[in-house]
Amino acid sequence: MSIETLAENSSIPAESGTSTPYNPADFDTSVMATYGRFPLALEKGEGCRVWDTEGREYLDFVAGIATCTLGHAHPALVETVTQQIKKLHHVSNLYYIPEQGQLAKWIIDHSCAERVFFCNSGAEANEAAIKLTRKYAHTVMDIEHPVILTAKASFHGRTLATITATGQPKYQKNFNPLVPGFHYVPYNDLRAIENAIADLDEGNERVAAIMLEGLQGEGGVRPGNLDYFLRLRKICDETGLLLIMDEVQIGMGRTGKYWGYENLGIEPDIFTSAKGLAGGIPIGAMMCKKFCDVFQAGEHASTFGGNPLACAAALTVGQTLEQENILQNVQERGEQLRKGLRAIAAKYPDLVTDVRGWGLINGMELSADAEVTSADVVKAAIQDGLLLVPAGPKVVRFVPPLIVTAEEVERAVEVVEKAIKTVTA
Ligand SMILES: Cc1ncc(COP(=O)(O)O)c(C=O)c1O
Repeated sequence: MSIETLAENSSIPAESGTSTPYNPADFDTSVMATYGRFPLALEKGEGCRVWDTEGREYLDFVAGIATCTLGHAHPALVETVTQQIKKLHHVSNLYYIPEQGQLAKWIIDHSCAERVFFCNSGAEANEAAIKLTRKYAHTVMDIEHPVILTAKASFHGRTLATITATGQPKYQKNFNPLVPGFHYVPYNDLRAIENAIADLDEGNERVAAIMLEGLQGEGGVRPGNLDYFLRLRKICDETGLLLIMDEVQIGMGRTGKYWGYENLGIEPDIFTSAKGLAGGIPIGAMMCKKFCDVFQAGEHASTFGGNPLACAAALTVGQTLEQENILQNVQERGEQLRKGLRAIAAKYPDLVTDVRGWGLINGMELSADAEVTSADVVKAAIQDGLLLVPAGPKVVRFVPPLIVTAEEVERAVEVVEKAIKTVTA
């Protein structure tokens, strides 16, 4: 069953809430139907737990889809946001924003970046990377028709350029004409990328950049191959192509390192971040290691981008990751979770065919031959008080807050085992 049909098919009642007013019928007739929603309304959270409008408690292994880095209502984030909104929350980039400078400095001190551009979302950060690449291709590489190679099964966002960058036709259907200048190659396949670069070198278009996720999140939690990325880095160094890494889902500590590319032994020329950067306060960022002066004043902008509120929040998230030694927790809890899920896979080998991931982004793959889908498992887990999210029809994704405890991981594994038992019954 697709995620879009979950709301209709779930057996969880969706009556009006008891505290925050919530009427699903009114909601559905006033809010556009762009999402397949689960029939529950969440109104309160603390740490890794959330409560719905009926007072039911859930263990949250979704974290706003890999976004609530410090969980819900983390005291440091609450304090920062409260103080900042009382002081100054938005002014525009007509002026210097001290919090933006501090956050940029924090990112530069904790990554390979030399300069940062701020915006509001992952798609917007990727748009900035695409625009920067094009300008660089025209003005420095002397390419008339620059092409960015992206991977099949990738996900880069929902704007027109980023759905075109996304190597999944289902996101592009009915939205043509798409944006020219993208070609797709199979992920983790070096020969395919070498062939694409060579083929395009002979035609009208030429490759200017390669844009990839270090681990494909939406595409099924598929980690990048170390040798592949090492070789790509070498190709880019030798040919002058830009290597762009989309860190929107895996950056900011999610993999147990600050940035996903650290798992691959390389440094990108450009990388993008959003989701977990400010722990759930909207923000996006594009970081450049080289070519930092390509954009001149007035060539790219965002009204909300890097406002004091979002930047203060992100700075607090970064500082808290350090102060509370959260990256170590991510590594340990990630190992614990994969061990627990692998034990389930060993008990249900006909259904669970793989468990994979880095740190606290993990996927449990279900057999292509089984009728059971990831959405079936997610629904069964919700019934037992655990929130999970599919990554495609056959992969169940686990992306809890990075502060998740050993007891919470243990509980989640118990619920998943019960859910697997239920869907195979
Ligand atoms: C790798 C990746 N890039 C880009 C995006 C788009 O981010 P946003 O929804 O903030 O625009 C996502 C969202 O899931 C993502 O996972």
